Amino acid sequence: MTVESHQTIIDSFKKANQDQIFKYYDELNTNEQNQLIEQLSKIENPTDLINTVEKAIKHSSSNSEESSNFTQLPNEQTASTLDLDAQVLNHWSDLGFEAISKGEVAILLMAGGQGTRLGSSDPKGCFNINLPSKKSLFEIQAEKILKTEKLTQSKFNLLEKPEIMWYIMTSGPTRESTEKFFKSNKFFGLSSNQIKFFNQGTLPCFNLEGNKILLNSKNSICESPDGNGGLYKALKDNKIIEDLNNKKIKHIHMYCVDNSLVKVADPIFIGFAIDKKFDLATKVVRKRDSTESVGLIVLNKKLKRPCVIEYSEISKELTEKLDPLDNQLLFLRAANIVNHYYSVDLLTKMIPKWISSQEYLPFHIAKKKIPSINLKTNEFYKPTEPNGIKLEQFIFDVFPSVELSKFGCLEVDRSEEFSPLKNADGSKNDTPTTCKNHYLNRGTKWVKTNGGILENESDLVEVNPLTSYSGEGLEFVKGKTFKNGDII
Ligand code: UD1
Repeated sequence: MTVESHQTIIDSFKKANQDQIFKYYDELNTNEQNQLIEQLSKIENPTDLINTVEKAIKHSSSNSEESSNFTQLPNEQTASTLDLDAQVLNHWSDLGFEAISKGEVAILLMAGGQGTRLGSSDPKGCFNINLPSKKSLFEIQAEKILKTEKLTQSKFNLLEKPEIMWYIMTSGPTRESTEKFFKSNKFFGLSSNQIKFFNQGTLPCFNLEGNKILLNSKNSICESPDGNGGLYKALKDNKIIEDLNNKKIKHIHMYCVDNSLVKVADPIFIGFAIDKKFDLATKVVRKRDSTESVGLIVLNKKLKRPCVIEYSEISKELTEKLDPLDNQLLFLRAANIVNHYYSVDLLTKMIPKWISSQEYLPFHIAKKKIPSINLKTNEFYKPTEPNGIKLEQFIFDVFPSVELSKFGCLEVDRSEEFSPLKNADGSKNDTPTTCKNHYLNRGTKWVKTNGGILENESDLVEVNPLTSYSGEGLEFVKGKTFKNGDII
């Protein structure tokens, strides 16, 4: 880069009132100056960026959407595995397996989050929730994929097992360690060719007023991943959409890394979407109580479109409202578990539109503790209170661009499918310990249902995903006795 182009970049940031970025510029050696300018050069228009932050702050504080505008989705768009008869479930499962056997299904994992609430510096997927097997979340998920492939192979008498593509979205902070973890674990028995890592974008972090970019060091600014809504841009920038079309993949099962009970590549869910010809579908569980930190899948009455109200942006009144038909239940209770189905056609058609304007993917702000340089003391510090904001796009903000008739919502059993890892042990919910307990409770239930015997009433056993995907194939435990901590 020439001296002139350095100056052009510096001028564009100064014009956007970002002089603080260059406070230490003259003390830096040439190499350090280049590093800073190189990082800044990725931001096309600093003035636009600052305006975006201003807009995001307004958007977050306005949050004035009438509560009465949100209601439950109509029955035609919803189903529940809790009360469906076995015939329908089998039909959906058959459709899902058939699509997998034809190579039409791929899995998309979002693993770009930094897991700050969990307080671990490793990517969440590497986390070991202390099961008897000591498996990481990534290993459990990889084994679910292997098992799905094996079930498909035997169901269709295939000579070889199909390979389901697994696209893994990482971010600057999680990429290297994630790839290293997969390599050192030999891809958990999957083929390295069926796994494709790609990065989401990053955005600068700002002070609480949103008008100044924070410095990470004297020659770098603070950056963070652009939120899970950055997925769509990342799919385009990394040519994943082309790859999907080249491979003639038609259906995507997308999920997030932190759900310890996730049914990866769930044939029932895929079959549900195929059967109903939905372009987009989502799984939900019943919200535990009004305080649970989950988004809600609802109908926007004005738009007549599906949408999600995020837990950080919902009013107390709406979150606590009871169902007029049954006042034991919350009115809005379809909890988003970030488990979505997309047709590849929808993604191909809509992604260019979705990423073209903030109308589809607005920025939301999150107040965070952002380690950065204190410009008064000139020292790097780790704040104990939120000192800045991160900008994030939300994956579900594009839902209202899909016609209601093309959107489906499948309620599933929480104890079978949802236990997220969000917080460190010591918190009440969503911790390594709650994940472990839910995982073991589920396996133990499967074993008991199949006639297995536990030495003691309170014993818990672990079922290997390679033994059973979701409770099937466990007839062999009948009459056998197991003890606490056994792995089956
Ligand atoms: C998310 C959902 C919320 C849902 C809850 C259920 C969104 C915006 N919110 O909230 O509605 O009820 O999960 O557990 O979807 N991620 C990235 N890149 C990022 C940020 C996040 O890949 O920049 C990934 C994370 O790795 C994780 C997933 O997105 O797999 C969810 O992220 P997280 O920030 O933990 O979401 P929640 O706030 O818990």
